[in-house]
Amino acid sequence: LFKKILVALDGSEHADHALECALDLAEKYAASVLSVSVFHPEPLSLDLEPNFTLPQTTEQFLISIKAYHEKVLSESLKRVTKLKPKLNISTKLMKGRPADEIVEEAREGNFDLIVMGSRGVGGISQLLLGSVSDRVADHAPCPVLIVR
Ligand SMILES: Nc1ncnc2c1ncn2[C@@H]1O[C@H](COP(=O)(O)OP(=O)(O)O)[C@@H](O)[C@H]1O
Ligand SMILES: [Mg+2]
Repeated sequence: LFKKILVALDGSEHADHALECALDLAEKYAASVLSVSVFHPEPLSLDLEPNFTLPQTTEQFLISIKAYHEKVLSESLKRVTKLKPKLNISTKLMKGRPADEIVEEAREGNFDLIVMGSRGVGGISQLLLGSVSDRVADHAPCPVLIVR
């Protein structure tokens, strides 16, 4: 049933749990995993770890959010190759609105499942779901597993 699994990572603890679930499922279903992280070059949508410091110029800003998401992916890859060396996993850095990019990738890549966290970094804790997970759940072309 689940042969291609897409997992969305933003560097949050919630997304780390989502990755764990995705890996476990991938092993059981002999599925491949693509982990994606989307950087959104818009200061107002800033959604990074708390100790992240804002750079001065837009160019620096772009470079640093890109680097942040690159690091999220490379660290996840490191973790996976250590935990499940036999697993077929790749990573993809994307640019744009996170929810739209995730949905688009799932559609174009014919993914069978999207796994993501219920919350991310720096969300509003009163809300039931994060804005990205909410939007993906609403528009996804396949089942979505939202990990609390
Ligand atoms: N920029 C992103 N790239 C990839 N995945 C993301 C991104 N932002 C959020 N996600 C995924 O969506 C989940 C929920 O995050 P989000 O909806 O942004 O909640 P919050 O509003 O609390 O930040 C995260 O755990 C992660 O799996
Ligand atoms: Mg977020």
